[in-house]
Amino acid sequence: MVKIIHVTDIHIVPEGELVVGMDPSKRLSEVICSINETYSDADLCIISGDLADRGDLASYRRLAHHLETLLVPYRLMLGNHDNRAAFRQVFPNVRVCASGWVQSVEDFGGIRFIFLDTLDNNRPDTGVLCHERLSWLAERLRESAGRRVFIFMHHPPHSVGVKWFDNMMLEQPEGFRDLVRQHPCIEHIAFGHLHLTTTGRWDRLSFSCNRGTCHRIALSLDSEMLEFVDSDPAYDVHLITDSGIVVHHTTPTSPDRLIAREYTTPDGKGRIEYVGDWF
Ligand SMILES: [Fe+2]
Ligand SMILES: [Fe+2]
Repeated sequence: MVKIIHVTDIHIVPEGELVVGMDPSKRLSEVICSINETYSDADLCIISGDLADRGDLASYRRLAHHLETLLVPYRLMLGNHDNRAAFRQVFPNVRVCASGWVQSVEDFGGIRFIFLDTLDNNRPDTGVLCHERLSWLAERLRESAGRRVFIFMHHPPHSVGVKWFDNMMLEQPEGFRDLVRQHPCIEHIAFGHLHLTTTGRWDRLSFSCNRGTCHRIALSLDSEMLEFVDSDPAYDVHLITDSGIVVHHTTPTSPDRLIAREYTTPDGKGRIEYVGDWF
């Protein structure tokens, strides 16, 4: 089994600044503590873009400081809020493809992860996979013969039925979709960008998105505006087994929110032990 942690949309800002009234650094710290305590044995932690809210050097440096505390190997990706040049200045050793896009591959035996760079320098919200990036993807798929493939990208390549986002997706997605059709080895796509928790299936391909660590959006399918709501920071745990993938959606849990523990007993009924002042 391969265990992957999917973190997204962390939107780090310089010290003293907030995003929609929230402190992105504090929320990321909670998530890193939770990962370290519960999933330190994970094979990889993927942070799928919108790393810095305004793509500035100070925020990337702050992120680098946070990552020093993460016990799991990690891979950073870019989203529409990021700035590729500033990111690479702070993270000079990040894996990139020959053309400089922040795209890379990680293999775990017969399982291949492909990380895509959908940042469009010319648009603030939509994503793109230009001919160069698609050609790189096609080559990685061609050489992955016999492997199962899982793709991570910031922008969703299809609508998820939320009107607000329909004009903020991956632009001109036909090239990407053609590759998906041609390569049945692709089993699952994980993305961010939506600030919503969403799972489903397009044709044979399953997908997952978690709402990220920062500002969550209230689900509204047809609204002309966004509503941000106070919620715990969230992340996903992917368990890739011989037969498929399980995606657990979770949040950090502090000890003061623990209500009870249940233990097995010989009669099969179980024993519940309450904790603290709950009862
Ligand atoms: Fe975002
Ligand atoms: Fe985004």
